[in-house]
Amino acid sequence: MSTIKDLIFLLLLPATLLALFIFLHLPLLKRKRPNLPPGGGRGWPFLGETLEYLQPHPATSSGRFMELHVKKYGKVFRSNLFGEPTVVSADAGLNRFILQNEGRLFESSYPKSIGGILGKWSMLVLVGDMHQSMRMISLNFLCNARLRAVLLPEVERQTLMVISSWKEGVAFSAQEEAKKFTFNLMAKNIMSMEPGEEETEKLRREYITFMKGVVSAPINLPGTSYWKALKSRSSILGVIETKMEERKQRMVLGTDEEDDLLGWALKKSSLSKEQILDLLLSLLFAGHETSSMALALAVFFLERCPKAVRQLREEHQNIARKKTGRGLNWEDYKQMEFTLCVINETLRLGNVVRFVHRKAIRDVHYGGYVIPSGWKVLPVFAAVHLDSELYSEPEKFNPWRWQRDSPGATASPCNFMPYGGGPRLCAGSELAKLEIAVFLHHMVLNFEWEIAEEDCPFVFPFVDFPKGLLIKACHVATT
Ligand code: HEM
Ligand SMILES: *[C@@H]1O[C@H](CO)[C@@H](O)[C@H](O)[C@H]1NC(C)=O
Repeated sequence: MSTIKDLIFLLLLPATLLALFIFLHLPLLKRKRPNLPPGGGRGWPFLGETLEYLQPHPATSSGRFMELHVKKYGKVFRSNLFGEPTVVSADAGLNRFILQNEGRLFESSYPKSIGGILGKWSMLVLVGDMHQSMRMISLNFLCNARLRAVLLPEVERQTLMVISSWKEGVAFSAQEEAKKFTFNLMAKNIMSMEPGEEETEKLRREYITFMKGVVSAPINLPGTSYWKALKSRSSILGVIETKMEERKQRMVLGTDEEDDLLGWALKKSSLSKEQILDLLLSLLFAGHETSSMALALAVFFLERCPKAVRQLREEHQNIARKKTGRGLNWEDYKQMEFTLCVINETLRLGNVVRFVHRKAIRDVHYGGYVIPSGWKVLPVFAAVHLDSELYSEPEKFNPWRWQRDSPGATASPCNFMPYGGGPRLCAGSELAKLEIAVFLHHMVLNFEWEIAEEDCPFVFPFVDFPKGLLIKACHVATT
């Protein structure tokens, strides 16, 4: 009998001890669960808090969603966005960490709608080696030597073409003019299309429909924005393809002289036809929407800051006075110092690209939190750029904060990421600055302007002036 009792006791002992162990260590085991960033309720099924996140708001604010969440949870918080568990970051340090660790801890992860419309070979959605080789082609195309020799004169030519059509005292949409300018410039540089030609105009019209689909829900039913955008995508690709065939024929005949991206991709890369099409389309997209919006924002902010316009005009009159040659050259451009402060301040306050899409590809530990592998991560640049702990009076347009020697300068390039960063840093940032600077050069030398109808840049979440930023311009009295 006693042996049976002993046996039962021996069998129960480990179980009892285990139970006791678990009971005592319960708080500790609980604490061992990943320490997620704080966050709110999961919101609506599937949609989560996406609608709140995408709520339109003025571009010069980071929006109610960000403001409320940062106040409640801090600069790093979790949410449920675009159908996935997400960590949102308004923290400059974490944002930099995310961008620098692309490919190691994080990876680009855009919603399906973007890949569907820009194409599976688009640079925005590619990762790894394929991304790297497409990136190299773009960087070559936008390199410094080409900027000086080819792009600068072309930027100036396109600027003058746009500005010369402005009529004194007649209201027109500055946003539309800016879009025309950057679109024509890209169409010219990518595939040698000339502004004003029937083909270019058709492409531009298709492109507008296309653009609306990029930010819409990927619902491919007749009539939806997404469906229309996919149709535009095929007509745009049709136009590019025709260009490509023409070019191939001329290359065979040896009469191809165009120095554009299409020629370059055909002659010097081993990309397939499908890949070249997506590359050209995504460059047209990346290089057109962003810099035109930045230019429109500069026109908007400057109109409300006459002191900055005066200083800008002085800078450009000095450059114009000293000039000997006809067109602007690189030395002239290098003297546009205050202009670059205006550009930085425009991007800080206007935030053309508000955030980028990433996901964690490993469990990432940062600042005491864990971001679980597979979660989406959104570094929100706009929230950093409008943070009053980093920029004094962040809601004010103050280009002087960028001057190196100005007393009380508070802007710091290490918290400033309008072009992203790391291995996916914007390939066109130098071209964008050149475009805006050269356009402003001729604009302030030739015109004064005022807003013709009250307007304000909104985040829809792409930045847009609802009324197109109507302005009236009149010629500057020449001194
Ligand atoms: C003010 C204007 C511009 C802004 C604010 C801007 C902003 C950005 C940002 C934030 C990214 C990073 C996207 C990401 O990390 O997921 C990016 C990427 C890119 N941008 Fe820009 N951009 C501008 C103008 C341009 C122009 C003019 C071009 C080309 C002509 C261009 C070409 C590109 C390309 C090719 C990429 C992809 C780079 C890569 O994935 O390696 N951008 N841009
Ligand atoms: C503007 O911002 C860039 C970072 O994008 C920085 O490197 C540059 O120094 C800034 N320019 C001025 C004039 O402060």
